[in-house]
Amino acid sequence: MNLPSKIFLIGFMGSGKSTLGKKIAKQIGYSFFDLDAEIENDEKRTITEIFNCDGEKYFRNLESKKISSLKDNHNNLVVALGGGTPCFNNNMETIKELGPTIYLKYNPGILASRLLNAKTKRPLIANKTNEEVKVFVEELLRERELVYLQSSLRIEGNNITSNQVVDLLLKNI
Ligand code: S3P
Repeated sequence: MNLPSKIFLIGFMGSGKSTLGKKIAKQIGYSFFDLDAEIENDEKRTITEIFNCDGEKYFRNLESKKISSLKDNHNNLVVALGGGTPCFNNNMETIKELGPTIYLKYNPGILASRLLNAKTKRPLIANKTNEEVKVFVEELLRERELVYLQSSLRIEGNNITSNQVVDLLLKNI
């Protein structure tokens, strides 16, 4: 298999980047790199604690530093980014230089319903009512999709398998 050394998964919160990323990594024998988990590990606290103590801007700087550090990481990696990662500090340009990007696309209704079950670990929506989450997802997705759509590949719909993603990568990259 002739695959690039780093493959990036991009998408809104709740699009399943980590779940699919782990499966793809296992299938192609790469390591899985979860940006949020790496940041939590470095900081020895959760994303929610980072947002609450030091604010979003501080978190966005941590994300950018982690992305830049991947330039010196020579492992074969499947990287799951946070939903906002490509949309701050010119990160998308850096990411595009590092490897192909796959956008996992879902409509806002599906994303909102998936997120309602997992609000607490996501500081951007933790204090919103269900109705507010729906509006928030619609508005933010509209804005962020301009960046997400710069990805090398876009995959739509539920039940996508790691096999299908790897096939697409091999055919299109
Ligand atoms: C965020 C998404 C989260 C996490 C943080 C901010 C965002 O990652 O990085 O809570 O701005 O969309 P997931 O997309 O993995 O939930």
